Amino acid sequence: MLPCQRQLFDIPDDAAYLNCAYMSPLMKPALEAGIAGLARKAHPWELTADEFFTGSEEFRKMGAQVLNSSADCIAIVSSAGYGIQTAAQNLPANKGQSILVLAEQFPSNYYPWQRLAAEKGAALKIVPWPADDNWTSAVLDALTDDVAIAALPHVHWTSGGRLDLIRIGAACRRIGSALVLDLTQSLGALDFDVNDVQPDFAVAASYKWLLGPYSTGLLYVAPKWHSGSPLEEGWIQRANSRDFSSLILYSDEYHSGARRFDMGERSNFALLPAAMRAMRQILEWKVGEISETCGAMNRRLAAAAAELGFSAPAEPMRAPHYLCLRRQAAIPKELAGMLAREKVFVSVRGSSIRVTPHVYNTVQDCERLISCLRCTA
Ligand SMILES: Cc1ncc(COP(=O)(O)O)c(C=O)c1O
Repeated sequence: MLPCQRQLFDIPDDAAYLNCAYMSPLMKPALEAGIAGLARKAHPWELTADEFFTGSEEFRKMGAQVLNSSADCIAIVSSAGYGIQTAAQNLPANKGQSILVLAEQFPSNYYPWQRLAAEKGAALKIVPWPADDNWTSAVLDALTDDVAIAALPHVHWTSGGRLDLIRIGAACRRIGSALVLDLTQSLGALDFDVNDVQPDFAVAASYKWLLGPYSTGLLYVAPKWHSGSPLEEGWIQRANSRDFSSLILYSDEYHSGARRFDMGERSNFALLPAAMRAMRQILEWKVGEISETCGAMNRRLAAAAAELGFSAPAEPMRAPHYLCLRRQAAIPKELAGMLAREKVFVSVRGSSIRVTPHVYNTVQDCERLISCLRCTA
């Protein structure tokens, strides 16, 4: 368990920010790294050609550490959608086959598959919401021989439901299905190792649990797909790009590994340093410790909310860092106003309240949420 790390963040005492799944606050050292990077654009004559490559390689290495992969397998992308679209452009799916997604899956990991299925005459197979909250069993049941691609998250974004990706990865390999993962709601807060799961593609936007800035993300591409086609055919992905004076000696070769899948202008001198500083901090804290710390807060919150009639799936079916409280009785409309007045930040969606704390939260933050919920009882 980590002690509270609020001092590293610029969060006023009167704000109970319990909404990391929406967007994490950028920690002060990451903000400083980003500002210093942005300032470099004021003096472009000081930027060397080499720096278009060194920062990106550092980012790749750090992303690889988070995923326990090699830097060669990491591409730098702008969003989860960019990574999923890259996977959809490269994976085969034929008529008579199907592409597996979860019910109510996040749109960035749905629309690319909907389009691919329509283009190829494949079916989109949707895993129904499991009555017992067990997404792993529901997915394993749905992984039949017709599945060409399973496109899944580690954690369901509206329920916190957790998938056992090691078992699911093994099942995909047994039936010859590709596995594509959106780790945006888990990477940085829930242990994940590409060697255990062996996905074909795995993407994470960095602005949530990786504590990074918006418009930055990392895409893992398994070696077997390294000769695939990128979404963009830019200059920097090509093998001759280090030599600025001969860019028009057009090259058919790309840089090695997953580098061909990098987004255009990936050498972002402001965003990459901020994202790296945040990832460095996460590696120092250790993902398991973050998970345990958020988990302990959520367990206390779940117990207090249960007395007010709210329920949530139990661990391990629910990821420790992610709590979605539901109850039979409707949630009064006034709750949104009260939360705003009390500066308690969570996501209220219909009859569910999504609570996602992080290491900057305090016991008082949790108590303030519970007092608001008590007024709805
Ligand atoms: C599961 C999941 N994936 C991805 C995203 C973000 O998608 P993108 O990076 O394509 O904007 C979100 C944002 O809420 C999300 O919850």
